[in-house]
Amino acid sequence: MEFVVWNCSQLVTLAGPQRARIGPEMRDLLIVPDGAMLVRDGRIAAVGTRRGMETAVSRSIQIVDAGGRVVLPGFVDAHTHPVFAGTRADEFEQRAEGATYAEISARGGGIRSTVRRTRDASETDLLASARKYREWFLRGGTTTIEAKSGYGLSLESELKILRVIRQLGSEGILRYVPTFLGAHEVPDEYRGRIDAYIDLLIHEMLPRVAEERLAEYCDVFCEPSVFPADKARAILRAAQSLGFGLRLHADQFSADEGAQLAAELGAATADHLESTGPAGLEALRAAEVQPVLLPASVYNLGSTRYPAARRMIDLGLPIVLATDFNPGSSPTTSMPMVLSLACTQMKLTPAEALTAATINAAYSLRRGHEIGTLEAGKLADFAIHDCADYRELPYFFGRDPARAVYINGVCVM
Ligand code: NIG
Ligand code: FE
Repeated sequence: MEFVVWNCSQLVTLAGPQRARIGPEMRDLLIVPDGAMLVRDGRIAAVGTRRGMETAVSRSIQIVDAGGRVVLPGFVDAHTHPVFAGTRADEFEQRAEGATYAEISARGGGIRSTVRRTRDASETDLLASARKYREWFLRGGTTTIEAKSGYGLSLESELKILRVIRQLGSEGILRYVPTFLGAHEVPDEYRGRIDAYIDLLIHEMLPRVAEERLAEYCDVFCEPSVFPADKARAILRAAQSLGFGLRLHADQFSADEGAQLAAELGAATADHLESTGPAGLEALRAAEVQPVLLPASVYNLGSTRYPAARRMIDLGLPIVLATDFNPGSSPTTSMPMVLSLACTQMKLTPAEALTAATINAAYSLRRGHEIGTLEAGKLADFAIHDCADYRELPYFFGRDPARAVYINGVCVM
């Protein structure tokens, strides 16, 4: 199977060093104007200008005409919670009327209300709703997502969610990287008995998830009122000894030790970081932990405390941008919306935001050698966006401009 993508106003390759990009490198997109890309057997065979590729085209090869539009690597959304039942539109309304996320969760709403509904849902129902959200991810030009469990919080329900993620991944329409987030909250039946729940996590859930190879990463919601750092450490150490990579929800609401803990444990990522101070950032840099920034959750919770993205870039941290798609704090699958927030609220340039949403995200998932740029040898995961200049993606906000999306060289949208 061979075809050429032709007539791209900008072929945004992001070609560069074989590692996550830092500092000024984040502005280097290596754009080929009037570009073309040859795809063979699911991989990128060559990238160049239309003129340079003309010989390939003369051999009556199949042509995908981009129509003078922008072609980008598929977005890699490195933090999502895409398998859950129901919505929390009721809580959204309560927040509009003045209630806070913390108040709602203290009275039994929040994550625990989604857990109740998700436990009651069948695997078939969860698959159906997750397939609907998969369509939404594709419409935003996303081709890979990191997918967390975390709305089951019992052995059977967490396994149910992770099996749904495995099934979705096997369908080949969107790439899924599974993460076990059994420590997302303390479930109703363990309220006031957090240590008993941690016992269950460490001695039953983690070993079973490892044995069934249902997740590559383990995540913990590290927050004083949920899993404080000392509790989170015990869970994450157990996960590490079973071979899981680590990602942490760190310092979202309180300046706690989340970032420090991520550094101490050599986690792949520390996510959120809205409350992290200079010492935490320095620890992340020294330990080479990638920050994953989630501005859509800040926006949707009506907060103005965005993470210190510019300071992170200045420090040389290879930042990542993701949606945090979930039914509570961030009900969006749209990476273009996240790029817009990154530019307007955190003062990233469009190029920096794009780098954070593609190649840096791919490296945070140990997949930087396969996806995240348009370079010969990599998997042909890309999107044709309905614009002539990549800066229009964050500029025209609130729309998902993807016209066509390819995974492994197969058109999936
Ligand atoms: O990343 N903070 C914890 N987890 C999610 C929220 C999940 C929810 O509210 O359902 C987050 O923001
Ligand atoms: Fe999250």
